[in-house]
Order: sequence, then C-alpha cells, then structure tokens
Amino acid sequence: MSRIVFVNGEFVPYEEARISVMDRGFLFADGIYEVAAVLGGRLVDNDAHLARLVRCLGEIGIENPYPVAEWAQLEEELVKRNGLVEGLVYMEVTRGVWERDFPFPPADVKPTVVMFTQEKSITGSKLAESGAKVITVPDLRWKRRDIKSVALLAQVLAKQEAAKAGVSEAWMVEDGYVTEGGSSTAFIITKDGRIVTRPLSNAILPGITRQAVMRLAEEQGLTLEERLFTVEEALDAAEAFYTSASAFVMPTVEMDGKPIADGKPGPLTRRLRALYLDMAQATNSGKMG
Ligand code: PDD
Repeated sequence: MSRIVFVNGEFVPYEEARISVMDRGFLFADGIYEVAAVLGGRLVDNDAHLARLVRCLGEIGIENPYPVAEWAQLEEELVKRNGLVEGLVYMEVTRGVWERDFPFPPADVKPTVVMFTQEKSITGSKLAESGAKVITVPDLRWKRRDIKSVALLAQVLAKQEAAKAGVSEAWMVEDGYVTEGGSSTAFIITKDGRIVTRPLSNAILPGITRQAVMRLAEEQGLTLEERLFTVEEALDAAEAFYTSASAFVMPTVEMDGKPIADGKPGPLTRRLRALYLDMAQATNSGKMG
C-alpha cells in the first residue's frame, strides 16, 4: 500500500506532497505539532490530543483550521487510507507561507496543515520488557515548553547525545531538577511507593499520557506527588519510567550508566503499563472505554 499523507486539505501520495520553501514552519519553526497513538486501527486518547493542539494553536495565535470533530475525521481517514493498525499519527500546523519576514503574515494567509502516519509496534515493545536506559543532559530549551512547538533543536541535540551513548532517552535537567524527557514525561517511584512527577507549568509539556497515567494511578488508590525531583533522587528511586504517546509507559532502569534499584522494570511501573494498555485498547477515537 502506498503511503498517503494529508497536506492542506488533500490526501496525496507521499511522493507528490509539496510544501513551499517559504513555509514559516521551515523558516522559523513557526508552528506546532501533535502526536497520537493508533492501536488496533483506532486513535488513543485522541480527544485530549486534539484539545492540546487547539490550546497550542491559541497560545501562538494561529487560527485553528478545523473544528475538533473534523480533525478527528481527517485523522481517522488518514489511518484508514494507510491501513495503519499500530503506530502514530503526526499532525503539524504552521503559520503558512509568506515571503520571509518575522512578524505574522497578513490575516488571510492560511495555516499549513500536514499529517502523516508512522507504523510502530508500541504494545509489543521489546524495550518495555528489558527497560530503557537514559542519560541526563542540560535542558537547553526556551521558556514556553508547555507549547508543543516544532522548534525541537534542543531535543534533537539531547536525543543525539542519548543515541551516541546507546540509550533510548535523555532526561533534561535544569537547576539540578529533572524537567522531562526529550520526547516524554519523566516519573520516579519512591521507596515508599509514591509516584512522583513534575507539576505542570511552562517548564514542561503537559503530557497526554501523563494525564491518563495519573488518572489510572488515582483510580487504583496509588499515591501521586506532583513535585520537582533531582537526578540524585531519581538514582535513589525504587522505580522510574517515562510516558509518551509513542512509548506509553516505559520502564527506566538505568541513568547515566548507573542502575535504578535492581536495574529491572519495577512492579508498579509494570502495573501502570498494563493499566494504560488496557485503557488504550478499550478506547475508540479517544472515548474512554
Ligand atoms: N513527544 N514531553 C515532551 C518534551 C514531548 O515531546 C512529549 C511527546 C511528551 C509526552 O507527551 P504525550 O504523552 O502527550 O505524548 C512530554 C512526542 C511523542 C514526540 O515528539 O514524538
């Protein structure tokens, strides 16, 4: 099956898709993006992803090109046209095409909209069995990390460091505290069983998987603590994990070459992953089962 992408209102073969060299996404990273998982051909927690997309557009003053229901239909159509069973839908909206100039273009310039799918085995991840290793790197990003901006250079550099070190993720650190992963939310579990993650602020992206995992943990009567934690505390934790639409709940077993606890995925993390998988498998276009 040939790959179909969505560009500015049309479904086109990937080879034929075209974006202008004057696109502000290309010139200024002037745009936002969203990534949602697909399981069994259905989008996972999609209402929450679309809500974040709409909020991020509003934060940077790009007019939302489609009502939420139409976004969802377009995503579903793209999934169908690509025969995607398990993987990701990537969506990007930029401020459109205009001669290179920093201020916003005239109001009648339409945003550029691009969507594509990627096949990925998320549920059968081998890494989730063995557990992921991470390194820590300085957080070099700007101060509005709550916006899912396509300006990802700091994360590209962080994740290249991780790749060079032969590990899966880089946890970014600011003032001694972990902010989040290069493309994920960071969690630790203390020796007395408290699940700790950083509170929402401009310092991190409000993860959709984070939100779902916290809700699931709460339903199970587990103790959640939204507060900052240090690298030292993470190294001394009973368990650690990270969450994202592309990894779900990923046990984290080593940091900067040192094992976390016994260096194996922890029991509470495994439980949270199983709970998340159950929830994701039960979802239908974002509606919780
Ligand atoms: N990244 N923090 C950052 C910096 C991220 O880029 C992401 C997601 C997350 C997790 O958010 P969510 O649970 O909503 O996926 C946290 C996506 C997957 C990406 O860039 O590919």
